[in-house]
Amino acid sequence: MKPVSLIQFLIEERRAGHINAELSLLIEVVARACKRIAVATSKGALGGVLGNAGSDNVQGEAQKKLDVISNEILLEANAWGGHLAACASEEMEDPQPIPDMYPKGNHLLLFDPLDGSSNIDVNISVGTIFSVLRCPEDVVQPKVEDFLQPGTRQLAAGYVVYGPATLLVLTFGHGTHEFTLDREVGSFMLSRRDIRIPEQTGEFAINMSNQRHWEAPMQRYVSELLAGKEGPRGKDFNMRWVASMVADVHRIVTRGGVFFYPLDAKIRAQGGKLRLMYEANPMAFIVEQAGGAATTGRERILELQPTGLHQRVPVFLGSRGEVEVATRYHREADVAYA
Ligand code: AHG
Repeated sequence: MKPVSLIQFLIEERRAGHINAELSLLIEVVARACKRIAVATSKGALGGVLGNAGSDNVQGEAQKKLDVISNEILLEANAWGGHLAACASEEMEDPQPIPDMYPKGNHLLLFDPLDGSSNIDVNISVGTIFSVLRCPEDVVQPKVEDFLQPGTRQLAAGYVVYGPATLLVLTFGHGTHEFTLDREVGSFMLSRRDIRIPEQTGEFAINMSNQRHWEAPMQRYVSELLAGKEGPRGKDFNMRWVASMVADVHRIVTRGGVFFYPLDAKIRAQGGKLRLMYEANPMAFIVEQAGGAATTGRERILELQPTGLHQRVPVFLGSRGEVEVATRYHREADVAYA
């Protein structure tokens, strides 16, 4: 089969009527920015990019130098192309307008510039996650409320994993596709078209150290997995937890599995750990387009009406069979206690 570059793929998608020229340009620009982030992350200590930046982000978390660098790379790359009305980043409190000197487009870009940044200093995979929405008509200077659209309205979503290889996984709502960065040529090349996540799995990802804080249905579900062949599920399960959502999701997109960041007593007041607009929505779109499922344990993530740019939600996603069992346990418990 002849190799297909990201640019060729985008042209095919335009011809198929799945995207327009502006969205195609937007994805090219994001992919180019991510190549620069890949270069920065790969320098490690030699590039002086490890460690804390000495600042906190909007979530009150200590920013790593690479969080700040990656955010700047994405903002700078997207400012002048004329394809965006505004950007929003997990690292910034408010949306970033497009400077007046540049033309504006009809799209809104949201991103988590460097997800899993606690892993940078220990040389474990990190990633970038992004989501694209249409800017509401007649809005010239988008405000927070213009970004608060349910995930079903995403026009595109993707992530880039900076691992042993740099990979881009992308959806426009017509399947999920993977591209591998050819470092010599400098191009993302199509490596898997129409990825399918197996419906059943024997592998789950969760931070078990939070077990004692989980809600009762989560305790029940995971204890049944841990009971293995001898328990009610009648089979053994394996566990993995990278603590970089991109890496954990990429494993699921590659060989199946299920990922949970459930609600727990420590994070109940903030609604969850992961951010709806920067993490849950784009990953849910990618996973659903690959045949998987994504819920909060109660509702389909993509149907949530966002209430804030930095809103957090519980996340259950991956192989449909396991997401459905865990979600059913939560719904049954809610009915029993109603
Ligand atoms: P951040 O972008 O702040 O580094 O957050 C990482 C996220 C996500 O990538 C990962 O799945 C999760 O936080 C890990 O959380 P724990 O450290 O609680 O396991």
